[in-house]
Amino acid sequence: MEFELNGKQVSLDLDPEMPLLWVIRDEIGLTGTKFGCGKGLCGACTVHLNGQAIRSCITPLAAIAGQSVTTIEGLSDNDNLHPVQQSWIDHNVPQCGYCQSGQLMSASALLATNANPSDEDIDAAMSGNICRCGTYPRIRKAIKQAAGRMQAATDLAYEVKVGDLS
Ligand code: FES
Ligand code: FES
Repeated sequence: MEFELNGKQVSLDLDPEMPLLWVIRDEIGLTGTKFGCGKGLCGACTVHLNGQAIRSCITPLAAIAGQSVTTIEGLSDNDNLHPVQQSWIDHNVPQCGYCQSGQLMSASALLATNANPSDEDIDAAMSGNICRCGTYPRIRKAIKQAAGRMQAATDLAYEVKVGDLS
């Protein structure tokens, strides 16, 4: 079974029915993705499959063959934090922290497709990520700040490109 994990090709000889969460944590040793309910109900195990947020506890290995998976360990660009990670720090979002890698993966997937999410958009995208510590208000603020950061970076890149052409 082959797939891409955090930008690197992985080849494994495992039961194709093994949940991706087990593969990531127990076979590969990336423990940032958490086990919560094991039933697709809490969001603690959220990763990206081809950029979309999925629940790795209910995704069998067979379903990801030949595709691209990103975990929390692959969210940053080397030493450059993803904008949601920086905003999470700025807003002191985590409390116990257990749910937070899943929250970050859902938030980053949202911003990849919606550059300026409303409160309703955020609530809809994040509704499957449960936080027993109740960090939801800070999560919402952090997502909005990250959206602004990403828009500013896009605007700057555009200005540089136009400057290069003139
Ligand atoms: S552990 Fe996967 S959704 Fe709860
Ligand atoms: S920060 Fe504790 S469960 Fe979310």
